Amino acid sequence: MEKQEIANRNDIALLVDSFYEKVKEDELIGFIFNDVAKVDWPQHLPIMYDFWENLLLDTGSYGRNAMDPHFRLNKLIPLQPEYFDRWLQLFEATVGEHFTGEKATLAVTRARSIKGIMALKMNQINHPGPDKNIPLVNPGNDQ
Ligand code: HEM
Repeated sequence: MEKQEIANRNDIALLVDSFYEKVKEDELIGFIFNDVAKVDWPQHLPIMYDFWENLLLDTGSYGRNAMDPHFRLNKLIPLQPEYFDRWLQLFEATVGEHFTGEKATLAVTRARSIKGIMALKMNQINHPGPDKNIPLVNPGNDQ
């Protein structure tokens, strides 16, 4: 298949649909979507089109909080770093299979950065340190 630029909502839909085809069948993270969250796909997919269209084509189409459903999900099943790694691997593979160009690169960059933040936040919740009140500057250091 000829690789294409990401130029409009149709291209975004191809990206998102192809990505979730992989996700649903994935042996490590598929069950989270299929069995734990039991995602309502006809409802979820247009939200994801909005999200990626906004990020890549700057359409102002997404104004929701992307973190919230993940915090809720994390209470049902702790979201492990390896789940996030797989998520990103599948996303990057999908972009690489279908797309080329500046927006394709941007999609990967944005996905990496949001994935990094999300994984870090979930990890902080799932593995809180022994003392959350360590001062940023330790006055004892210089004494
Ligand atoms: C292991 C990693 C992840 C899992 C298991 C996961 C799973 C889910 C699930 C189950 C939903 C809710 C679907 C529903 O409404 O029924 C969701 C929503 C969403 N996810 Fe993820 N996700 C992951 C990582 C990410 C990452 C890295 C991003 C962004 C780069 C992302 C972006 C979103 C967005 C934008 C929504 C829609 C939020 C809204 O309702 O507005 N997810 N995700």
